[in-house]
Formats: sequence, C-alpha cells, structure tokens
Amino acid sequence: PTTRVYNWTLTEIQIAPDGVERTVLAINGMFPGPVVEVNVGDRILVNLTNHMSNATTMHWHGLYQNGTNWMDGVNSITQCGIPPNTSFLYNFTIENQYGTFWYHSHTKAQYTDGLVGPLIVHSPEEDPIRELYDYDQVVLVQDWYHDLSSALMEGYLASGNENTEPTPDNGLIQGTNYFDCSSYSSDSGYTCHDNSTRAKFPVTKNKRYRLRLINAGSFAEMIFSVDNHTLSVIEADGVLVEPVTVHRIPVNIAQRYSVIIEANQTSGNYWMRCQMNQFCFSQSNPVLDSNIEALVTYDNTTTEPAHSSDWLLMLQVSCIDLDPSLLVPYYVDPAPKATVQYIVEPSFQIGAYALDRGYFNSTTWVASSTPTVNLAVAGLQAGNSSFSTTGLSRAYDSHQFVLNVGGWEVVDLLINNLDEGSHPFHLHGYTFWVMAQSSTGVFDWNTYDSLNTTNPMRRDTIMINAYGWALIRFRADNPGIWALHCHISWHIEAGLLMQVQTRDDLMKDWTIPADVLALCEA
Ligand code: C2O
Ligand code: CU
Repeated sequence: PTTRVYNWTLTEIQIAPDGVERTVLAINGMFPGPVVEVNVGDRILVNLTNHMSNATTMHWHGLYQNGTNWMDGVNSITQCGIPPNTSFLYNFTIENQYGTFWYHSHTKAQYTDGLVGPLIVHSPEEDPIRELYDYDQVVLVQDWYHDLSSALMEGYLASGNENTEPTPDNGLIQGTNYFDCSSYSSDSGYTCHDNSTRAKFPVTKNKRYRLRLINAGSFAEMIFSVDNHTLSVIEADGVLVEPVTVHRIPVNIAQRYSVIIEANQTSGNYWMRCQMNQFCFSQSNPVLDSNIEALVTYDNTTTEPAHSSDWLLMLQVSCIDLDPSLLVPYYVDPAPKATVQYIVEPSFQIGAYALDRGYFNSTTWVASSTPTVNLAVAGLQAGNSSFSTTGLSRAYDSHQFVLNVGGWEVVDLLINNLDEGSHPFHLHGYTFWVMAQSSTGVFDWNTYDSLNTTNPMRRDTIMINAYGWALIRFRADNPGIWALHCHISWHIEAGLLMQVQTRDDLMKDWTIPADVLALCEA
C-alpha cells in the first residue's frame, strides 16, 4: 500500500461540454474530474482548495470510511462545508473493497453542475476476472442541464406541485456530446456552438475491453448498449459478479457496472448508446434528444457517424434495475441472520407552504448548521440518552430522522416506497445484501424464513420502483452517521434523506479531528 496525494483546486469555469456554454464546477480545470486510480490498502490524501463562490464538500461514493466517518464528505451530516478560499485535506484509507466507485460534491445539488469523477480501486482479488479482458476503460455518463442547479432547484421546490423535477436538456458520455443548436431560438439566452462532438472509444480488433459504467447524473436512468457487441456484466457497485451476458443494461443514478465488450467486428464505427429512460421523467423537455451516443471505432481515422443499428428495442415501462436475479456475486458471502428489523417509508408530500418535500416516515431532511456526527459524539460523551436510545425517529432536531442501530447488530431494513415515483436509494458506509425486492405489493413476512441467504446480491445503490419495496440487510459494524437517501439530486435537496447511526458504543470515544471541526467555525 502507498500514500496517494492529490492536489485539487476547484473553480468555476465557462465551458460548453455539448456546445452550450454554461458555468461548470471543475477540478484543476477539468470536467469531469480526474480519474482516481488506487490499490486496496492505499491511503488517499486529497488536498482540496475551494476557489468557487460557494462552500463545498466531497463524497467518496461507496467507500466505507471505516474509522473516518468525518471524511465521508456529506455537508451538515459528517462535516461543515469548506468555505470559498479555504483548503481542506481529505485523508482516508481504502480497506476491504475494490471495484468501480466515484466521487462527487455532497453539498446541495452542486454535483449537477460538475464536481464528479471516477474512483477505481484495484485488488489482487480481481486477478481471476482480470483474465477476461485486455483493457480497462472508464465510461462516465450523466444527464446534463444547461442551467445552474441552484436555479433549477428553486423552480422545482417552489412549484407547489409534485412531479416537476427538471428534465435534463442533454446527456454526456465522458463529459461530451452533440447538441443540436437549432433547438434554441436566437433569443433563448443560450450561447450554442454548432461544433460539439461525441465521445470516441477506439478499439483494436479482437481485444476485450472492461467498460466501467458510472452514472454520475442527477435524474435520468441510462440504458446502456453498444450496437453489435454484447455486454458481459462482471461487476455491480464494487461487487464482482458471475459473468452474465446482456444486450443492454439500465444504469440508475449513482450505480456502477463493469461490462466486457469484445471487439469482434471487422471494421467501422458502432454506436455506443445511452438511452435516457423517459418513463422516469415527470415532464418532457422539447430540446432533449434522449438518445445519447458515442462512437466505438475500429478505425481511428474515420469520423463518419456509425451506421450500425440498435438491438431490438424493448418497450421501457418502468425505471427498475437490471433483473436482480441475473446478478450473483462472484465471491460467496452469505448473509448472516438479522438481529434487528426496521421499516422505513419514503414518500413525497405537499407540506407546509405548498412545498413539495421528500419524507422518510414523517420527517423531511433539512441541512442542519451543526453536522449530525458532531451532535451525536458530543451527546454520547455527555451521556445524553437521547443520542444513545436505539430505534427509529431519533430526531436530533425536527428535520433529522436518525435511525440509531446502537451497537453491533445485523440490520434488516425494509424500505417501502410509498411514492408514485421510483427512487435510486443509496446507503453510505455499507454494501448491503439485497434480500428481496419487488415493484409491487408489500413484503410478505411469511417468506422471511425462506429468503436466499446463501449468496444474495450485494450493492450500495438500489432502484426501488414506485410503490415497490426492498428488504436490505447489512452488518452494522461501521461506526458513524451514514446517510440513506434517494440519489436524484433534486430529491436529496427536497429532503428525501435519512441517517443511520451505527456502533455508537465506539463513537462515544471519538475525537473528531480539529481540522474537521474548524470548518464549522469558519
Ligand atoms: Cu453518491 Cu449520499 O451519495
Ligand atoms: Cu428520488
């Protein structure tokens, strides 16, 4: 293991990723941000200097942060924001996990404006899978807006209606795409350059490529495919799976998949497609062409568009994940018996002031001025029992819904989505077993004793369909306060977030580092 040092300066730049100029939040002038590629066991030092006009935090999506909960980068939960013209050192070690991850701002809907990038962790445990491909290639995809998230968010929350999430204007692959400037009239206020281009992925005949798909977007499910090339799925969210071949794969917000394509055609160009699943949108956007494309090219010199055709189109009638029964972890990890069970119920409600807010049970999250971790550690050390009582609704203030699991437990969490929308839920600090899930009905507890515990799928982000549910299980062995939320940018900010407190028996002995605490005094 080595120590990897990154010096990142965050700035606001004017660029046109798809031809349309806008302000983008960049890392060392780059959008998307640089690839962080490390080995398991490495210590990561990211010295982040904020030269933007707003405070920020950086989250390392999918990393456990075991023993360093305050490096999880969640504004108002694990730290205060890093103010403009201030530096902060993220310092953590990556243990017991490997695969495809990503990083993104976790302050408001900021990552919609940039501040996203891939994070790849290698491990000797991947050696047998490594035989299956010759090259390793990140494919970062995201939906894209031509306006700042702050403006879009304001419109969304103030609407007084449900289902008014901003619909993307475009989508990007590797931070670029074509956009048809004639979609905007000359008085639209946008500056559009007609020279935008699609990403190109050169391939060499007969070589095999591991494509690491990362959906770093804010709202849209991306259905990924490559014409004439099948996809062999080998990883989901940092969990290796038994290879399984598909023609297309839905990648929901914040999810990752590794798929292997074999360059088994003779020549020419083939479309790589990211079809935004329009079914998941609540309103249409006249400028959006939901078919996002890039080129897989056998001949670097050709610039012609591809003439390949799509796999047979399936009608998309929902926003669900890839059929979960297709995914079987490569390394067997049986789910232990749960010791505690909780039920949480996310929903959307038009509440006070006619604002459309996301709820877990009866609480809608609003960022607090003191991070929850700081409150919890101080409360535990003061012997204040309201911070150590286990159970649901441990409300530290009226907008913080904290489930305190307490000491070492194996937790079953049944998430009943009471909303008419589908939501990609992410739990920080853990990889959970997906014990059961469905897009309809309610979980039948009579089936509880016959659940597959031998080797259920494990991941960190799961789509729960409208009025659907999922039963997830995790070993609550990681001390800290961990966010559990829908990963749609608009829904995080609308409050569809709760927190899980685990191993508070260890947290009460914590000393939060002074430089982390100092951010709250700035
Ligand atoms: Cu990708 Cu709360 O995180
Ligand atoms: Cu959501």
